[in-house]
Amino acid sequence: MFQSTRLLLMSQSSTTMNVLRTSTIPFTRNIILPTLLKQRSSLLYSVKNNNNNLINSKRFLHQSFVSSSPSHQGEVPPPAQAPVLRPRSKFRTAGKFIWKTTLYSILATIGYFSYQLYREIHPKTQLPQSKTFENGSPRKNLVILGTGWGSVSLLQELDTTLYNVIIVSPRNYFLFTPLLPSTPVGTVNVKSIVEPIRSIIRRTKGSVVYYEAWATDIDPQNKQITVKSVFPGEQEDIKTIDYDYLVLSIGATSTTFNIPGVSENAIFMKEISDSEKVRSKIMKTIEKASFLPRDDPERRKLLNFLVVGGGPTGVEFAAELQDFIKQDLKKIMPEISQDIKVSLIEGLPNILNMFDKKLIDYTEKFLINEDVDLKLNTMVKKVNPDSIIAKCKGEEIELPYGVLVWSTGIKPQQLTLDTMKKLDEQTERRGLLIDDKLRLLGAQDSIFGIGDCTFHPGFVPTAQVAHQEGQYLAKTFQKLYEIDQLKWEQEQPNADINSIKTNIDKIESSIVDFKYAHMGSLAYIGGDKAIMDLNIAGAQYRLSGGNFVFWFWRSVYLSMCVSLRNRVLVTADWVRTFVFGRDSSV
Ligand SMILES: Cc1cc2nc3c(=O)[nH]c(=O)nc-3n(C[C@H](O)[C@H](O)[C@H](O)COP(=O)(O)OP(=O)(O)OC[C@H]3O[C@@H](n4cnc5c(N)ncnc54)[C@H](O)[C@@H]3O)c2cc1C
Ligand SMILES: NC(=O)c1ccc[n+]([C@@H]2O[C@H](COP(=O)([O-])OP(=O)(O)OC[C@H]3O[C@@H](n4cnc5c(N)ncnc54)[C@H](O)[C@@H]3O)[C@@H](O)[C@H]2O)c1
Repeated sequence: MFQSTRLLLMSQSSTTMNVLRTSTIPFTRNIILPTLLKQRSSLLYSVKNNNNNLINSKRFLHQSFVSSSPSHQGEVPPPAQAPVLRPRSKFRTAGKFIWKTTLYSILATIGYFSYQLYREIHPKTQLPQSKTFENGSPRKNLVILGTGWGSVSLLQELDTTLYNVIIVSPRNYFLFTPLLPSTPVGTVNVKSIVEPIRSIIRRTKGSVVYYEAWATDIDPQNKQITVKSVFPGEQEDIKTIDYDYLVLSIGATSTTFNIPGVSENAIFMKEISDSEKVRSKIMKTIEKASFLPRDDPERRKLLNFLVVGGGPTGVEFAAELQDFIKQDLKKIMPEISQDIKVSLIEGLPNILNMFDKKLIDYTEKFLINEDVDLKLNTMVKKVNPDSIIAKCKGEEIELPYGVLVWSTGIKPQQLTLDTMKKLDEQTERRGLLIDDKLRLLGAQDSIFGIGDCTFHPGFVPTAQVAHQEGQYLAKTFQKLYEIDQLKWEQEQPNADINSIKTNIDKIESSIVDFKYAHMGSLAYIGGDKAIMDLNIAGAQYRLSGGNFVFWFWRSVYLSMCVSLRNRVLVTADWVRTFVFGRDSSV
């Protein structure tokens, strides 16, 4: 111990150490010297670590060995050289920076998602509904019809403690429609793109009442709606609800243009039930066809899959269908997959008419390359149980089919049509007319309309519009609450009527018109390819194909999901499809 530790001291103060070493006092030799040696050793160690410089340990060990050998005992070795400090390597510093940044980013992401998850699973206690506020002013009834894009966006932004909020909708969940075309073939599961409305309303500040019912009538004069439960017979199935404010966000329904046979024979692509029907039909038709000999004309007919309507819904569904056939069915049923023909039928000269011409051309070429039979200028006129009759370049053609999916756009719901009839100002057949503050013409004091059930020049029926309108209305309701409070104060004894009126005017004038900010459009076109037509700060970005666009499309859709649960489930579905392929069972 003494011999080896002695060496450690030599490099710095050999004289001092020698004095200690040769001391005849046992305390000095056995206690003080080893303590000093220990400190010195740890000093050397920290110098080495802090500066990233390696001490020449070989030389050090050699000296240690030499001086501890009997022949060298008693000699005073020369002082060791100070450790050589080499300059820091740039690569090492950069590597360390990247590693630290990555680590902190991962930790921050985990922290963020854990917090989000915690908030989703453990919502805060909600303020109960009441007839009046603490100051005695009445708390108004805000009734919202629908649980789609418009209503849910409104609900998520609204301070629900300011009103008694009641939601009425026959659908007890929110449906993330942009991924609906991915569900029939199983790229994404239907349950991954729905969020229960009960979970959504449980996360709001004030409690919200939900009725699983259809609104069947609106009485704008008496500010009352009639609703019919979706469970007739099991309970009192019709009731009336009074409202102070009513928001109509009941969407639209699939249109058939009154073409004979469509409702009876085609399947739409609008709701979860449609997706399930399409899936069942596809899988059963494939199994039926595989039962027949290859040259049987019935087999050929069954394996004709027709998609009518070359809008984004039709294109995205045809793309997903072709993906399923080319990527998955090909492996498990190669003969069937070879014989299936997917045709996309469009009445106009082009598909995807809301996109830029370059993107349209790219998509059309891409789909043809992917073996989708693109039939442009082909207007369907009649649908039979196993064929369609269409007009193509002046000629009538008949196309047999095994599966027929219909996606030719939307038309107003029955309730929308009935409400139009009640208000003289409602003169447009395509939807409820609203003003720039989203108030229903003819009932501006109490009814608002958002989303697909409305018509306003410049607003297309998309999730993007409905979402922004919902956000806008949430702000409007905040201001309406403030105005209502002031109006109530005005009626109280000794109220300063003039100053309150000035405040009311100020708030009223701060309710600005709704301005739609179009962010652009995205569409999936199959084979891990997408197109994007983005509008960022006035600049247009049009891109097609390529990994970037595909992953951008996926990231945008993920970010648009209404809950973390949806995001996780959709991501897991994409990973599952990539690893195991799509499931072909019904
Ligand atoms: C397959 C598909 C894909 C799409 N992809 C995109 C996309 O990628 N990007 C995009 O911007 N848009 C997309 N859209 C369009 C988008 O889904 C609609 O524009 C959007 O859903 C409109 O929102 P909304 O709130 O008006 O209606 P919806 O979301 O349709 O909601 C209507 C709600 O009202 C309820 N309701 C109906 N009748 C009544 C009644 N009588 N009483 C009470 N409640 C009622 C319904 O049950 C539903 O809950 C897609 C549409 C489809 C069909
Ligand atoms: N990725 C996206 O942004 C996206 C995806 C889906 C839907 N959406 C939106 O949802 C709404 C509905 O979309 P959609 O695709 O269901 O409808 P759409 O109205 O956009 O397209 C319907 C298509 O069907 C065609 N058509 C109509 N009748 C026909 C007939 N008898 N024979 C042949 N073709 C016929 C029309 O010419 C039209 O091109 C649109 O506003 C759309 O923008 C957007």
